[in-house]
Amino acid sequence: MSFRIQPQPPARPNRCQLFGPGSRPAIFEKMAKSEADVINLDLEDSVSPDDKPGARANIVQAIGDIDWGAKTLSVRINGLDTPYWYRDVIDLLEQAGERLDQIMIPKVGCAADLYAVDALVTAVEAAKGRKKRIAFEVIIESAAGIAHVQEIAAASPRLQAMSLGAADFAASMGMATTGIGGTQENYYMLHEGQKHWSDPWHWAQAAIVAACRTHGVLPVDGPFGDFSDDDGFRAQALRSATLGMVGKWAIHPKQVALANEVFTPSDTAVAEAREILDAMEQAKARGEGATVYKGRLVDIASIKQAEVIVKQSEMIAAR
Ligand code: COA
Ligand code: MG
Repeated sequence: MSFRIQPQPPARPNRCQLFGPGSRPAIFEKMAKSEADVINLDLEDSVSPDDKPGARANIVQAIGDIDWGAKTLSVRINGLDTPYWYRDVIDLLEQAGERLDQIMIPKVGCAADLYAVDALVTAVEAAKGRKKRIAFEVIIESAAGIAHVQEIAAASPRLQAMSLGAADFAASMGMATTGIGGTQENYYMLHEGQKHWSDPWHWAQAAIVAACRTHGVLPVDGPFGDFSDDDGFRAQALRSATLGMVGKWAIHPKQVALANEVFTPSDTAVAEAREILDAMEQAKARGEGATVYKGRLVDIASIKQAEVIVKQSEMIAAR
């Protein structure tokens, strides 16, 4: 490890973030009763311009009225390039109750975007005497966002999570697709006449994970648009989990169970991790730094890998 110790991300489950438009209050109660760890009430792209004021009012009321249980409650505000965002922040922080945990800032492009929202949030919190300090989460969904992902991850002590937003990201990058995440038909290698599909989201995900892990932020995979394709969702989520992401969005309630399944370490994985820790404990007692587990090498690095899985499962169990 470097002299600079890697900070721990917030110790809370973030396996699934369930979204719903702020203009559709009839589903808020259903969202609260879901198994998602995080609820994202939306003021941004699922709400039409004329509906923004009504959606703000719905959300302000629902934050106080609905029992959100132990969930992290987040509201997605509008982007800093719109005329809506300042009113989103002011109405939320002046009028909504202390139950609100987090604000999601979409389309961030540089550290100064967070600085601007932080300044406004800090002023309204102080003016209103709010006790709970609002956390931030951001979406990386533009060329600028991914180009500045490191400075964004370091931009504010309020920042807890960072998601990849595949649709806006693809548009900003000029990618030739209208799909929201998942396999892209035209992104393949040819080997002996056979197509082998690669993952066009991989590099952006890996960049987000590295920035997040460097600065103690939770890396999250964003939406998977085709909610009739369970296998496609699962495949995308499994890749994200393998790369180090902790969860994924659900844009339909049926995706919640899929995300929870993928981002909860399986009993088999936890049992194997504990066996590796055990094997290393015994190796240590024999004065060895490496040993053999099921025919493969395990060493001191394997302890850290196994601890990631065990800690994640303990944190979810304690929720
Ligand atoms: N959260 C909780 N419940 C939801 C829901 C959501 N996001 N979306 C739909 N439901 C409920 C419906 O009310 C319905 O409930 P019922 O069985 O009691 O009648 C049930 O789930 C099935 O809904 P279905 O008919 O399949 O979907 P729909 O046509 O009502 O809505 C979407 C589909 C995609 C429009 C809707 O899920 C949605 O708005 N998703 C979030 C979009 C969003 O926030 N986007 C921004 C982030 S990318
Ligand atoms: Mg978006």
